[in-house]
Amino acid sequence: MIKKEVSQIIAKRRSIFPHQFNGQTINKKIVLQLLINANTAPTHRLTQPWFFKVFSGNSKQKLADELIHSNTTASELFKKKITTNFQLSSHIICICMRRDHTESIPEWEEIASVAMAVQNIWLSCVDGKIGGYWSTPKGIEKLNNFLHLKTKERCLGLFYLGVYDSLQDRVLNRKSIEQDVQWLN
Ligand SMILES: Cc1cc2nc3c(=O)[nH]c(=O)nc-3n(C[C@H](O)[C@H](O)[C@H](O)COP(=O)(O)O)c2cc1C
Repeated sequence: MIKKEVSQIIAKRRSIFPHQFNGQTINKKIVLQLLINANTAPTHRLTQPWFFKVFSGNSKQKLADELIHSNTTASELFKKKITTNFQLSSHIICICMRRDHTESIPEWEEIASVAMAVQNIWLSCVDGKIGGYWSTPKGIEKLNNFLHLKTKERCLGLFYLGVYDSLQDRVLNRKSIEQDVQWLN
């Protein structure tokens, strides 16, 4: 049996973008719980490749400035969008991945593991008036110095986290799974 609630939570998970946030700050304890949930993700050989750098308050502003300045061809529109997105967000989580020193498993498995940790964060937000989305801006590797990343560490994107008041109904824009499943009996 699959618990109905589990399927419902999965179906309700969605990207919520900064323009849908109201600018309120999320309590740090809640953000910590999201990260505790992330930390239960599956991980081959228990390498636990995820780590997170969480920006709020003044540090969030510094990260926004860095994103803007690291993009030498940034348009005024891009700068304005980043500034507004960061202002409306409560926290920005830099999603990071670290290889174990022997690189005992392929990198894609570590990336998959980090993605599952992010999915845990996403699922944990369902119905809690907090939401977010995973953003993968071009040139994210230019943040490596700013983030003090070491060799074998990578930033895989930003998770914008914020509070929303209300949302429109979710339109689940997906193909039918039947066309992509082969049953081999
Ligand atoms: C690895 C990954 C990277 C993503 N990067 C971006 C991004 O750079 N910009 C963006 O608008 N959405 C990004 N998204 C969010 C997708 O746009 C979003 O998941 C998709 O539209 C489906 O919507 P849903 O999450 O509400 O189901 C990313 C999602 C994933 C899983």
